[in-house]
Amino acid sequence: MTEQPQPTDQPTRTAIVTGAARGIGAAIARRFAQDGYAVAVLDLDESACAATVDAITADGGRALAVGVDVSDEAAANAAVERVAAELGAPTILVNNAGIIRDNMLFKMTVDDWDAVMGVHLRGSFLMTRAAQKYMTEAKWGRIINLSSTSALGNRGQANYSAAKAGLQGFTKTLAIELGKFGVTANAIAPGFIATDMTRATAERMGITFDQFLEGAAKEIPVQRVGLPEDIAATASFLARDEAGFVSGQVIYVAGGPTD
Ligand code: NAI
Repeated sequence: MTEQPQPTDQPTRTAIVTGAARGIGAAIARRFAQDGYAVAVLDLDESACAATVDAITADGGRALAVGVDVSDEAAANAAVERVAAELGAPTILVNNAGIIRDNMLFKMTVDDWDAVMGVHLRGSFLMTRAAQKYMTEAKWGRIINLSSTSALGNRGQANYSAAKAGLQGFTKTLAIELGKFGVTANAIAPGFIATDMTRATAERMGITFDQFLEGAAKEIPVQRVGLPEDIAATASFLARDEAGFVSGQVIYVAGGPTD
């Protein structure tokens, strides 16, 4: 006989989503609110988080806007402390904040390299280090890092692909170190997702966003580009209790196989 999950009366969980003012992060924040979590919406500019926070509160959810540069050690620590004080101990963390500084290697500047490493790798490290204490104390936690299909290599993205591959190693090590505290760590590696980030790539390529989307869809087995909600659905699964035996994995969400 299979056991049915039992309803629990545990207190509301608090989730932190970085880079949640827009795009994939905003979709994850909204989905988490629907899943019943209190959601801390983190982004560089606190006022830019208002749209995400308002959408959540309009639906009856609880959300807090926090301005933070995740690559700044003091700011990352302070942001996590503020979330704990104002929303509750964060036991779910999504390291989603990201930037691109694409260029062919011979034209890539040290600033292009450092900026990308700073947000993706240093930022994820700082946020995770600050938040893990609440997870280990609770003997429960979920860490979800945003990797990318670019981790497998992508022209013009030496910095970004190195950072996204680095996040996969980071994720696996977190899974090994934190598993005994009931904390899982997984990475989601999206393929092409229609957001401002991919819109900026189209602009740089000198084509319209629609042309870019159409061209990308033809190359994808399911014949469409991804939406932020596709990634939010995957994050929603990974954050659940029932995903507790899934850890240290990289889940490619790309509309088809990646190798
Ligand atoms: P986006 O550019 O639309 O949103 C990223 C958000 O991160 C922005 O609101 C930005 O202000 C914030 N952010 C940037 N630097 C920050 C910092 N230092 N501290 C705090 N917040 C910061 O990007 P999108 O497309 O929503 O991407 C989200 C994540 O998914 C990124 O990690 C990206 O690399 C990853 N990804 C995106 C794909 C796509 O096709 N859009 C594909 C694969 C991965």
